[in-house]
Amino acid sequence: MNTEKTLIIIKPDAVQRQLVGQIVSRFEQKGMKFAGLKLIHVSKAQAENLYSVHKGKHFYDSLVEFITASPVVVCVIDGQKAISICRNLMGATFGPQAQPGTIRGDFGASVSYNLIHGSDSPESANREIPIFFSPSDILNYEIISNRWTYNPAGEK
Ligand code: RTP
Ligand code: MG
Repeated sequence: MNTEKTLIIIKPDAVQRQLVGQIVSRFEQKGMKFAGLKLIHVSKAQAENLYSVHKGKHFYDSLVEFITASPVVVCVIDGQKAISICRNLMGATFGPQAQPGTIRGDFGASVSYNLIHGSDSPESANREIPIFFSPSDILNYEIISNRWTYNPAGEK
């Protein structure tokens, strides 16, 4: 089966608001497989690397400060179409605009704090995942129920 990996970060606001379990559940309920998951305090160097594409933008300094302010949960999710599925579950960038039913739409009211990060393309995922995970941290295993989450004969 053709799978792809994506980096998900449950950000400091979500950890402080004790929403980790509910957010992890959203992905599990959808059938997403966690291949890596850990609680870490992001270093300034990791934050600057993660957000290098935003360097120079007006929100860059506050973004680096925010993501390094308190622990986060970093995750690798592995699955067919995992990147777009996870982005759809997350919703629009900021809670006030995000649709109800999405993570940001249901839990977020701020235009500074937005609960979660998800890679936006395979190229971004390949760049972002090694910032937080060594290859041995990422596990390859089967979720038995995925027999009924995805059509084993192949998805269009
Ligand atoms: P993410 O990368 O966190 O999954 O979110 P995204 O793709 O929806 O948003 P992106 O445009 O990549 O921006 C990365 C993060 O920067 C912060 N941001 N602040 N104040 C602003 O105008 C602004 N714009 C973006 C957000 O924390 C966003 O998640
Ligand atoms: Mg982004």
